[in-house]
Amino acid sequence: MEVSKCLSLCLLLWNLIISLLKGVEASHRVFPEYQFLAATTVKQLHRTVYHFQPPKHWINDPNGPMYYNGFYHLFYQYNPKGSVWGNIVWAHSVSKDLVNWEPLEPAIYPSKPFDIKGTWSGSATIFPGDKVVIYYTGIDAKEKQLQNYAVPENPSDPYLRKWKKPKEGNPMVVPDNEINGSSFRDPTTAWQANGYWHILVGSRKNDVGVAYLFKSKDQKTWVKTPVPLHQVPGTGNWECPDFYPVSISGKTGLDTSELGNDVKHVLKVSLDATRYDYYTIGTYFPDQDKYVPDKGQADGWDGLRLDYGNFYASKSFFDPVKHRRIVWGWSNESDTKQDDVKKGWAGIQLIPRTVLLDPSGKQLVQWPVEEIETLRGQMIHKSNHKLETGKPVKLSQGITGAQADVVVTFSIPNLDKAEPFDPSWKDPQDLCFKKKSVQGAIGPFGLMVLATEKLEEFTPVFFRIFKAKDNKPVVLMCSDEEHSTLKTDVYKPMYGGFVDVDLADKKLSLRSLIDHSVVESFAAGGKTIISNRVYPTVAVFEMAHVFAFNNGTEPITLERALLCL
Ligand code: FRU
Repeated sequence: MEVSKCLSLCLLLWNLIISLLKGVEASHRVFPEYQFLAATTVKQLHRTVYHFQPPKHWINDPNGPMYYNGFYHLFYQYNPKGSVWGNIVWAHSVSKDLVNWEPLEPAIYPSKPFDIKGTWSGSATIFPGDKVVIYYTGIDAKEKQLQNYAVPENPSDPYLRKWKKPKEGNPMVVPDNEINGSSFRDPTTAWQANGYWHILVGSRKNDVGVAYLFKSKDQKTWVKTPVPLHQVPGTGNWECPDFYPVSISGKTGLDTSELGNDVKHVLKVSLDATRYDYYTIGTYFPDQDKYVPDKGQADGWDGLRLDYGNFYASKSFFDPVKHRRIVWGWSNESDTKQDDVKKGWAGIQLIPRTVLLDPSGKQLVQWPVEEIETLRGQMIHKSNHKLETGKPVKLSQGITGAQADVVVTFSIPNLDKAEPFDPSWKDPQDLCFKKKSVQGAIGPFGLMVLATEKLEEFTPVFFRIFKAKDNKPVVLMCSDEEHSTLKTDVYKPMYGGFVDVDLADKKLSLRSLIDHSVVESFAAGGKTIISNRVYPTVAVFEMAHVFAFNNGTEPITLERALLCL
């Protein structure tokens, strides 16, 4: 084996061990040798078609999404000089429909003593009177993290092309003695309560993840509350906090300052150590500057996740046009850095999703914004097809499955045959591993996407159903990347999440958005989501297929399949 390959494999293994041990790999890895290596070519293979990507180079977190004056704005962390993390600016694009984007010049970039070493993540707030302000983290010459603000040079330009950082009031918040100045970042959108404006900033005190709360009367002077809004021991650094209300009974999203009896709050944080986003649902007490997760909400490593796959640093905003809250998430590459440099690009934003509280009140549900459906062209339908054990059925007959929106409903007649669920199986990802080579009664069944005709390459997204002591079904969703590519040097994880459904109608739905190197799968109407980044070598373009399969012993019927391209 070539030495370089061996080295990158070792590195990959090392990263894997680190993440399995839940050790801390501080933020983004730095590759000084690649940071300034501009792309000379941009490889099309694996580039997405309907996901957000700039023409070239590295991207990470979505920043400051908002709707303003006729346009949706998306800013994002961007390296203008290379295809790995570094030289970070706020790149900027606008859209009328969340599908077609027009790139503009970077909005915020290092230019002042308070951000000369970096303009990191943050959020936009539209204050009363249509006053737009961006709060972001700046890195100063001593590598200290500070919170700054920027405002449009010309607020009547609907593109908001140019931004300035006023002298007065910048830096806006500097870390005091209590705060760890090298883990203090990513201010939220401001919300109003009790006559004050509020923002959160992510941080840590040793291994305690912290969301510091700052209050202001005038949006200029911010004072830290004596106690953080929330903190959880053992979770490590909190990045990109997001705090917003959701309606208990309504079907629309809420603006960030909404309060009242019909409202619950969501606190989402991005865990630096494991690179996943978890959230709790709870009650916000503005008069006490306190947030208390509801009873029964896991608040730590085992918390609910916005996505159980490759998804990080998400950020939501309220869309006043369609009265919805939309969440954006970043999906990193899982190939090697050398591959990224060769490709000339790295990182995508996943499809923006509407987010609502599930009627159970126990979790969120997310769904791709409806605008994505305007991309649907040719449609292939299939219905009432029995999925025989070990005999996959090709759904993408005669068309390419490299770029598809697949919607399927499975019906499970013999639920009573499900195997017993062992209550010690707490971690869904572990359970997916444990059962990897085990034929179940009900499942594995699901989809195989980006698959070759003879299944040398495929990415399966599937379910296994168990039966709890009280006879209630326990639904496990998995995705196994082991066979996603013939390449050997990419990270091929197994992902898993439980799906909280009662299956009273004996039906389970799955929607997968497939786009060359990304698969975003939504189970049960968006209750559990897994996003994959995969790099097929043969299952590409017209050689990529979609199959439905059942490898369990009990019959499953593909009740309805709709494949749109
Ligand atoms: C999350 C993050 C943020 C930081 C930014 C830097 O991916 O580490 O905490 O502001 O990326 O690019």
